[in-house]
Amino acid sequence: MSSLLIFGAGGHGRVVADAALAARQWLRVLASDRDPSRCTGELLAGVALLPAYAATATAGAVHIAIGDGVARAREVAALPAGLLATVIHPKASVSRHAHVAPGCFIAAQAVVGPNATLGVCVIVNHGAVVDHDVSIGDYSHVAPLAALGGGAKLGRRVLVGSGASILPGVQIADDVVIGAGAVVAGDLAEAGTYAGVPARRLK
Ligand SMILES: CC(C)(COP(=O)(O)OP(=O)(O)OC[C@H]1O[C@@H](n2cnc3c(N)ncnc32)[C@H](O)[C@@H]1OP(=O)(O)O)[C@@H](O)C(=O)NCCC(=O)NCCS
Repeated sequence: MSSLLIFGAGGHGRVVADAALAARQWLRVLASDRDPSRCTGELLAGVALLPAYAATATAGAVHIAIGDGVARAREVAALPAGLLATVIHPKASVSRHAHVAPGCFIAAQAVVGPNATLGVCVIVNHGAVVDHDVSIGDYSHVAPLAALGGGAKLGRRVLVGSGASILPGVQIADDVVIGAGAVVAGDLAEAGTYAGVPARRLK
């Protein structure tokens, strides 16, 4: 047991802090942010906000709690190696046959099935379902209540919006954004924003 630093003092940081406290895996949970004006008081009761330099010096493990994948990757690149911690809410259901890389966050009521693979710093948010044999690239984010069917394959920095469905086996390129509520029925080979049922390219 050591201390966990949550880096990112926004709404997603609060969700991660809540899960980290519930997990009871760390002796102390702290938070910080690149914006000094956010670094006073508490992120949640019992989670002190400290200036970035003080917080990083005391932490044995760090979780980057920023929803945007590009910003998350930038913060990870600035971290000393070996500090990245995964946070899993105790009410998430994660198969012991799933592969979860460092720095991931898995929220309450999320399900990650057998042989699913989550890359570095992937977010599987509240109630999302990542079915068997799904592969998710580094820094991607599966938003609340989204569902990825068995064998689907997502690239890096993909955002799957709230409530969207990706049908089984569908392959999605790097840097794709899927709109909330979309149904993706076929492969998306190019970066861009897609929405609707069935999903069509917006831009
Ligand atoms: C799809 C999305 C990325 C588009 O955002 P945007 O680029 O700012 O686009 P706009 O809001 O300007 O909308 C462009 C058009 O797409 C439509 N649109 C936006 N989101 C849509 C969606 N999810 N499904 C269907 N149509 C959508 C808008 O109504 C608008 O249509 P119009 O041109 O006929 O008026 C965004 O709306 C979205 O769904 N983001 C996901 C949010 C989310 O789930 N975040 C997770 C947080 S944990």
